[in-house]
Amino acid sequence: MLSIFLSTGATLLCLSSSVQAAAVKDKALRSDCEATSNWPGWSDIKHAFVFGDSYTSTGFNETLEQPTPTNPLGNPTYPGWTAANGPNWVDFLTVEYNASILLTYNLAYGGATMDSSLVAPWKPEVSSIVNQVRDQWFPTYASKPSSAPWSSENTLFAIFDGINDVGNSWWQDLSTTTALNTAIFKVYRGLVDSLYDSGARNFAFLSVPPVDRAPQSLAQSAENQAQEKADIEAWNTLLNDMAKSLKKEKPDVNVFIVDANDLFTQVLDNPASFPQTALYKNTTAFCDDYQNGTPAQDTFTPSCGVPVNQYFWLNSLHPTYPMQEVLAEGVAKQLQAGPNVC
Ligand SMILES: *[C@@H]1O[C@H](CO)[C@@H](O)[C@H](O)[C@H]1NC(C)=O
Ligand SMILES: *[C@@H]1O[C@H](CO)[C@@H](O)[C@H](O)[C@H]1NC(C)=O
Ligand SMILES: *[C@@H]1O[C@H](CO)[C@@H](O)[C@H](O)[C@H]1NC(C)=O
Repeated sequence: MLSIFLSTGATLLCLSSSVQAAAVKDKALRSDCEATSNWPGWSDIKHAFVFGDSYTSTGFNETLEQPTPTNPLGNPTYPGWTAANGPNWVDFLTVEYNASILLTYNLAYGGATMDSSLVAPWKPEVSSIVNQVRDQWFPTYASKPSSAPWSSENTLFAIFDGINDVGNSWWQDLSTTTALNTAIFKVYRGLVDSLYDSGARNFAFLSVPPVDRAPQSLAQSAENQAQEKADIEAWNTLLNDMAKSLKKEKPDVNVFIVDANDLFTQVLDNPASFPQTALYKNTTAFCDDYQNGTPAQDTFTPSCGVPVNQYFWLNSLHPTYPMQEVLAEGVAKQLQAGPNVC
């Protein structure tokens, strides 16, 4: 009897603290911005065009099978080629955290920077965000072809870039990275304007996560980590500035900033912040046996100590799919809450 009472009391305590935690989180998401008539609500969005790097890429090829209601990511077979040992945020957003049948055209490419001529990618054939927009999106989708009959009022444009731009440049001196970031954001804004001119009205921008806490950075000195972190913060400030000026200059747009940096930080600080990541046991390192090749999802190799999905990091730079699921949920919650830049 006593133990039943105690455990009920404990449950109540747990409930009330988790309700509080949820309220705090939702406050961060709450939107006081009024959506324009171009935003039908998350549940009426029918198409999403996505641009990004390896955190986002699923290996979609826009010249092959297009998304359809029964195959909403087109090609390759779900979840595609991800760097997450399972589905990534685009996959989860399209099939788990969607509020409608969402057809997703994911032009992201591993290793992408904004503009290869400003920050060289790790190999020359990488399709930058400039290439994804100018050389892939425009010729394939700008005309609203019958294979992708999008309109201004039912389509989301999501861009998640910066990890490689910062990753391939942070060690230069501050005046160099400051000038570089300014130049990159000029290109970024130019691309957004070109999408706007073709009818895009709903934009989601994801901030750069704390990759200064990824194993490849943890292997560096504390001073180097601090310098990388400062460059990430500078990038994310410019992202917010761009979002605000975009909304100011083009009042008919709806702009959503998704604070990926905050979501990653919460999970790295405390994996139990979200049920999806509560299983994580190791947030600082990756296991060699898991990073090589593509281990089956949830593989367990005894020498690694715990299964692959209990590691935050799959390899020196990429998180495993539970973190990607938290990111997808964060995107969906912000889209549900409404635009947060006004
Ligand atoms: C996309 O598919 C076409 C046709 O098979 C192929 O020629 C092209 O190389 C592919 N693009 C990429 C980036 O793999
Ligand atoms: C979400 O997408 C999946 C896959 O297309 C679909 O089966 C499901 O019905 C969608 N959910 C909603 C609420 O429309
Ligand atoms: C994390 O994983 C690495 C690589 O397997 C291992 O060396 C380290 O001890 C683990 N850390 C924790 C806290 O389990």
